[in-house]
Amino acid sequence: MRVLMVCLGNICRSPMAEGILRDLAATRGIELSVDSAGTYAGHQGEAPDLRAQDEMKKRGHSIQRIRSRPMRPADFDAFDRIFVMDKSNYRDVLSMATDAAMEKKVGLFLNQAWPEKDLEVPDPYFGGQHGFERVYTLLERAAEAFLDSIDEQR
Ligand code: 4NP
Repeated sequence: MRVLMVCLGNICRSPMAEGILRDLAATRGIELSVDSAGTYAGHQGEAPDLRAQDEMKKRGHSIQRIRSRPMRPADFDAFDRIFVMDKSNYRDVLSMATDAAMEKKVGLFLNQAWPEKDLEVPDPYFGGQHGFERVYTLLERAAEAFLDSIDEQR
């Protein structure tokens, strides 16, 4: 299965989600291909925000090699699931979809842990390190729940 994580800048939330899901899947022996992208191209080519890198390093994950890239319509074919961090990402990604099969791939990532609650991963960009800690906690819960659902199907 191929999973794409999407946020606005692809320098804070979605690279963290990518790193967490990739590492937790490997720990469980689940074969997943994970990537991330942003709906906004303004940070294209940049490494993740240093606060995101620090938070991940503290928890034993490395995301320093990830580089921001914008989401493209071709990603709908390249990925089986597209997880978005907030409702604004959801609208932006859906606006790129051209059929119902594409739309069906898109969902709020936190709905994995809290089904149908439509909770959002808060944008930590304009805050301090505490926001990144909170983001980490939410993403880890969602990643574990997503992997639980894959394990149950195996
Ligand atoms: P992200 O955070 O969407 O989690 O990567 C942001 C990164 C950049 C900006 C906003 C949010 N920005 O306004 O440039």
